[in-house]
Amino acid sequence: MKVSGKSIINLYESKGDLKYSGEDITQLEHAWQCGQLAKEALVSPHLQLAAWIHDIGHLLSKLEGTPTLYERDDQHEVIASKFLESLFSDLVCQPIALHVKAKRYLVTTESSYFDSLSSDSVRSLRLQGGMMSPEECNDFIQYPFHKDAIQLRYWDDLGKRSDLQLPDRQLVLSELEELIEVCS
Ligand SMILES: [Fe+2]
Ligand SMILES: [Fe+2]
Repeated sequence: MKVSGKSIINLYESKGDLKYSGEDITQLEHAWQCGQLAKEALVSPHLQLAAWIHDIGHLLSKLEGTPTLYERDDQHEVIASKFLESLFSDLVCQPIALHVKAKRYLVTTESSYFDSLSSDSVRSLRLQGGMMSPEECNDFIQYPFHKDAIQLRYWDDLGKRSDLQLPDRQLVLSELEELIEVCS
């Protein structure tokens, strides 16, 4: 698929209602909630966009349903960053590429972080490599965008609220379209 702002919007229009793995919310709801948390944090538009579309790899993956339930890691962060790199700079792509590593890093370095993870996140953690070795932690903090990835990761964990109602869908998608235009 050729990447354009329109193709990203089309993906959320056509697949946004898919369930977010193991949670009582949809992919679009999770994406929007993460984007809102980033917006409230007053970060750059690029990091807001990264928060918004960090899980676009799930929409591109050929694996169905909740892959962790059948012991598969869909490698959605790799799929996403490869898909997006022709349209966006590292400011958007790198926090997305690193958001799974950020989870592994936080589980290793923050004792209370594990308890904040959802059950699907716990299942996927093992498939994604589990806790990091000291060498892996050291490698992770050498990435120029590791702090952005950590920030994104916290929004990721918070953006799973089933009690939040998505506002008007078209409004939400036009907000995303504007952000894409600013960042591409
Ligand atoms: Fe993810
Ligand atoms: Fe996510």
